Amino acid sequence: MTLHNFNAGPSILPKEVFEAASQSILNFNNTGLSILEIGHRTPLFQPVMDEARALVKELMNLDDDHEVLFLHGGATTQFMQVPMNLLQENGMAAYTETGTWANKAIKEAKLFGHVEIAGSSKEDQYFHIPRQISVSPTAAYLHITTNETIAGTQWHDLPYDCGVPLVADMSSDVLSRMLDFNKFDIIYAGAQKNMGAAGVNLVVVNKNVLGKAERPIPTILDYRNHINEGSMLNTPPVFAIYVVLLTLRWLKAQGGVAAIEKRNDEKAALFYETLDSLPVFKGPVAKDSRSKMNAVFVMDQPDLEKEFLDLCKAAGMIGVKGHRSVGGFRVSMYNALTIESVKVLTDLMKDFAIRKG
Ligand SMILES: Cc1ncc(COP(=O)(O)O)c(C=O)c1O
Repeated sequence: MTLHNFNAGPSILPKEVFEAASQSILNFNNTGLSILEIGHRTPLFQPVMDEARALVKELMNLDDDHEVLFLHGGATTQFMQVPMNLLQENGMAAYTETGTWANKAIKEAKLFGHVEIAGSSKEDQYFHIPRQISVSPTAAYLHITTNETIAGTQWHDLPYDCGVPLVADMSSDVLSRMLDFNKFDIIYAGAQKNMGAAGVNLVVVNKNVLGKAERPIPTILDYRNHINEGSMLNTPPVFAIYVVLLTLRWLKAQGGVAAIEKRNDEKAALFYETLDSLPVFKGPVAKDSRSKMNAVFVMDQPDLEKEFLDLCKAAGMIGVKGHRSVGGFRVSMYNALTIESVKVLTDLMKDFAIRKG
């Protein structure tokens, strides 16, 4: 049976990536060695790091001020590494409060300084992106979560002109749409959704925002050290970075970010048009804030949810159940998911609606 993988993360990657990654474990680039047994500073691995960093620069159109790093620790590490590097003791940073992930970032920032909430949708259970934000000019930076993976919301009107350095957690929509990436001063994203295997973080840093917070920073957590060492301060997560490289090559071969955005738009349009046409299903997220990556929906009659979930399972759909904190359903439509998978899902929704209607 064909499987349709709607997992929220780790999640679907292109088949070509799985094939090449498997091959690299047995015989990396015809060296007779596994990628798992070669030194990271050797001429065998260095080109992997160099190409992956260069491809991110190319795909995001980054200027020379922006450095690309691949760091350990998942996006959760960045929740503390960002304030540790950018926020003065007793300084203040502005955060938008848009859901579970933003709140985790806020909690960590409070360990390093003060947090100003620049905008919040808490009173609406986070089902919209704040339409207005207010950022004090004294804030060290503004932090946003461009896509809230659990609430199913996404920033569509980015606060580029907030007047202070802009920091973004792009874990669940990185490289899925064209943004003005140079307008961000830090972008971070765990790789395991749109970009590769778990175990590595993409971090894009504008060098000009570093060195302003006067606090001792442990060596491994100081972005400047990673920049100086070409993202090889210590042993990097070599295999995870190789999988990222394979995914970046795949993305480039698809036509780059603009081309994948077009496909993501088509998938999201098909899904949401179907959702809106069937009264048996409901989307709790405000239309102007809907995520094109993670679509959240519920049933008008909750007692029908189990029946629909069983049908999804029988049709080979994986990862359709909603996050435990929201309930209902969540389908993640990352870059590697095909429109055919969305079509199988929407056909099933239509069928179900007719039978229950
Ligand atoms: C938006 C967002 N930020 C941060 C994280 C945490 O990432 P990690 O598990 O890589 O630390 C996640 C994980 O799903 C996420 O969706």
